[in-house]
Amino acid sequence: MAMELKRIREMIKSEEIFNYNIMLIGFMGSGKTTVSKKLSEMLEMKCIEIDEYIKKEQGMPISDIFEKFGEKHFRDLESKAIENLKKSTGNIVSCGGGVVLRSRNIEAMKSQGKNVLLMASPKTLLDRVKGSDERPILNGNMDVDFIESLMKKRQEKYLDLADIIVDTDKKSVEEVCEEIIKKLIKLRN
Ligand code: S3P
Repeated sequence: MAMELKRIREMIKSEEIFNYNIMLIGFMGSGKTTVSKKLSEMLEMKCIEIDEYIKKEQGMPISDIFEKFGEKHFRDLESKAIENLKKSTGNIVSCGGGVVLRSRNIEAMKSQGKNVLLMASPKTLLDRVKGSDERPILNGNMDVDFIESLMKKRQEKYLDLADIIVDTDKKSVEEVCEEIIKKLIKLRN
């Protein structure tokens, strides 16, 4: 992959490929943040974390935004951040798991780049998120049954938005990134 990467980076610089935003979507704990950082390093593309952007802009953690202003307010900030992406291309964008809840986000994301759905089993998702209390949706609901039922409710929307799907169970972050790159290149052909 090392040689291939060099060639891919040259192609990116000459804007032959990935001259669009690569949007990472999927359930909480599917690996979007970790994968986006690695992908941005591998492809030398800028990384934008929507939750991080909102946190910085509002000067408080996501859990405080939920607590003080409610979920609707957070979703409004999320939609605004997604719409702002229109202004730039060639980024790796890591989206919050609930981004698919609004059709206006879905429409914007379809027109702004390619959407990469990261998947994992409910048990893997739980293992990845259980040590954190930064996800208000999961506070008090930290179990496989809740994750499975919320996943079922959102799955159709994730699948509808996805241009490519990558399973992350039992794969290293490098393996996931390589699979994403290969599948995105295939999309062009
Ligand atoms: C949410 C997912 C979180 C964050 C917020 C709501 C959700 O992002 O946006 O807590 O509704 O699935 P991650 O998917 O990055 O954890």
